[in-house]
Amino acid sequence: MTELRLVESGVILGLETSCDETAAAVIAGGRVLSSVIRSQVEVHAAYGGVVPELAARAHDAAVGGVVLQALRAAEVATSEVEAVAVTNGPGLPSALAVGVSAALGLAVGLQIPLLGVDHMEGHLFAGTLAAPIELPALVLLVSGGHSELIAVDSPGVYRRIASTRDDAAGEAFDKVARLLGLGYPGGPAIERAAAAGDRELVNFPRAVVKDGLDLSFSGLKTAVRRYVEANPAAEVADIAACFQEAAVDTLADRVVRAIESGSYSTLVVGGGVGANLRLRERLAEIAYRFGLQAAIPAPALCTDNGAMIAAAGAWRLSMGVPATYLLDVEPGRKLVH
Ligand code: KG4
Ligand code: ZN
Repeated sequence: MTELRLVESGVILGLETSCDETAAAVIAGGRVLSSVIRSQVEVHAAYGGVVPELAARAHDAAVGGVVLQALRAAEVATSEVEAVAVTNGPGLPSALAVGVSAALGLAVGLQIPLLGVDHMEGHLFAGTLAAPIELPALVLLVSGGHSELIAVDSPGVYRRIASTRDDAAGEAFDKVARLLGLGYPGGPAIERAAAAGDRELVNFPRAVVKDGLDLSFSGLKTAVRRYVEANPAAEVADIAACFQEAAVDTLADRVVRAIESGSYSTLVVGGGVGANLRLRERLAEIAYRFGLQAAIPAPALCTDNGAMIAAAGAWRLSMGVPATYLLDVEPGRKLVH
């Protein structure tokens, strides 16, 4: 049996600044010693979404303090850090650059290895923080910028099974939240509003993409917009609940079809949308139904954090991936080409 596990590494610092969270974490000996996340929600709330230039400036202002806080909470001295792992893509170019520069400065100053980590591989490794992932695994990666189903056949061997034809799942939550006047960040706002709504009131369309398992959310988004225009007095809670149900159904349907057409030991979820309780419930139920293990990280580990980056970096280091001080920012970095 092969598995993906949190490597029993020396002290590794993970840094994440790809979007709107400045995060740093320390792992060592197969354990997370600290994880500090500074959200930029207040910076972007007035704009209804992430403003890249403001994100970069906020990362710049926060990153030093967040790193120090993570080291202090882990009770390790800077001199004990053996490697720095940092997200170098995908993400907002100027936001990524802040993390990469900070990590480069630390690694050069301490003369320790620097590892560039793929943000989506980080989301996958969040699944290893609680327990090893038995392979082969089917991974649902659902964030603000990506929605994919990936098969992990063996460690580091990824196959893309499906991706989205239009919006990412998180993007759909964010856009519908804006439409409903629920503000940013949209996913948690929809989930909160949906709690008081009737999820069976409106049967929004579940996208069917012919030929394959790809996802699509633009039809659902348009259907919600048309419904709101035609029913201005409708309760926001009900619309949020019905949208959430349709989005989760769409994801659950693809996961079931992927499981039926493959052979997996574990179902993993990663990315911010994985924090959604309705989705978590459905995925747990699907894993149980098909006799798969479920790797569903705690909600705070589904959204962006430094521990997942440290974990992916530790694994890369253990695999002999060369560290380099010539680390490019790769906003369009892809886990599977
Ligand atoms: O992984 P993540 O923190 O950052 C990216 O890599 O993009 O994901 C952020 C996305 C946002 O679109 C946000 O609205 C969504 O995840 N999200 C949620 C929830 N929490 C965050 N979507 C649905 N329900 C949630 N509870
Ligand atoms: Zn993310």
